[in-house]
Amino acid sequence: MPIELQSIIKTYRMGSENFNALDGITATIKDGEFIAIMGPSGSGKSTLANIIGGLDTPSSGKIFVNKEDISRAWDRALSHYRNKKVGFVFQTFNLQPHYTALENVMLPLIFSKVRLRARKKKAVACLEAVGLGDRMKHKPGELSGGQRQRVSIARSLANNPEIIIADEPTGNLDSKRSTEIIALLKKLREEKNITLIIITHDMNIAHQADRVIYIQDGKIKKAR
Ligand SMILES: Nc1ncnc2c1ncn2[C@@H]1O[C@H](COP(=O)(O)OP(=O)(O)OP(=O)(O)O)[C@@H](O)[C@H]1O
Ligand SMILES: [Mg+2]
Repeated sequence: MPIELQSIIKTYRMGSENFNALDGITATIKDGEFIAIMGPSGSGKSTLANIIGGLDTPSSGKIFVNKEDISRAWDRALSHYRNKKVGFVFQTFNLQPHYTALENVMLPLIFSKVRLRARKKKAVACLEAVGLGDRMKHKPGELSGGQRQRVSIARSLANNPEIIIADEPTGNLDSKRSTEIIALLKKLREEKNITLIIITHDMNIAHQADRVIYIQDGKIKKAR
C-alpha cells in the first residue's frame, strides 16, 4: 500500500506555548518499500511512525494510504486500518508478561473476531515463521531479548499486515541479535511484500534500507 504524507504537522500545547513535534512532513512511501527513519532523539520519529500507523492523528495535513485519506477517517475506519493493515514492533517489545508466547500472538486476533481454533493455528504459524516453534509455551520472562522481539514480530504478523512499523526494534539488543532481527524483518518483507518502516539510530540498518529519511526538529532534513 503506497503511503503519501502531505504537510503533516503535529502540535503539542506545553503550558502557554505551542510546540510542533512534526513541522510539515511531506513524503511518499512506495508499496513494498523498506524505509529507515533516522534523526536525533526528540526529532519526531516516533510521532511520525505513530501517525503513519494510525495510532495518533496529525494536527493538520493529510495521509493517504492506498489513496484513502486516513487523517480524516472515522474512528472505526482508523481502528480497522490500525488493526488489520499495520503491524507494530517496539523497542521494549510490549508483550503481556503473564501470557505465553502463543497467547501473546493470539491476542490481536481476538480483536478481529477470529475463532479460537483458527486463532491458535494462525499464531502457531506466525511463531514458526520467526523460528520460535519450540518456545510457544514460554512466557516473556522465560525468553531471551532476541526471542522476545521475535514474539513481538510474530504478533505483528498475526493479522497479515501490509505495513510493518518498527520503532527502534533492536534498541535493546546486542549486535548479533540485532542483525538477526533485521534479517528476519527483511525476509518477511520479501516473502509477504510488506512495506517496512524501521526507525533506527544504527547506520548498518539504515544502509540496508531502500531509502533513508532523516528527521530533525520535526522536518525532513534530507532523504536518500
Ligand atoms: N504527548 C506529548 N506531549 C508533549 N510533547 C510531546 C508528546 N509526545 C512527544 N512530545 C515531544 O515531541 C518531540 C518528538 O518526540 P518523539 O517521541 O517523536 O521523538 P523521537 O524522534 O522518537 O525521539 P527518540 O529517538 O528519543 O525516541 C519531543 O520533543 C517530545 O518531547
Ligand atoms: Mg522515538
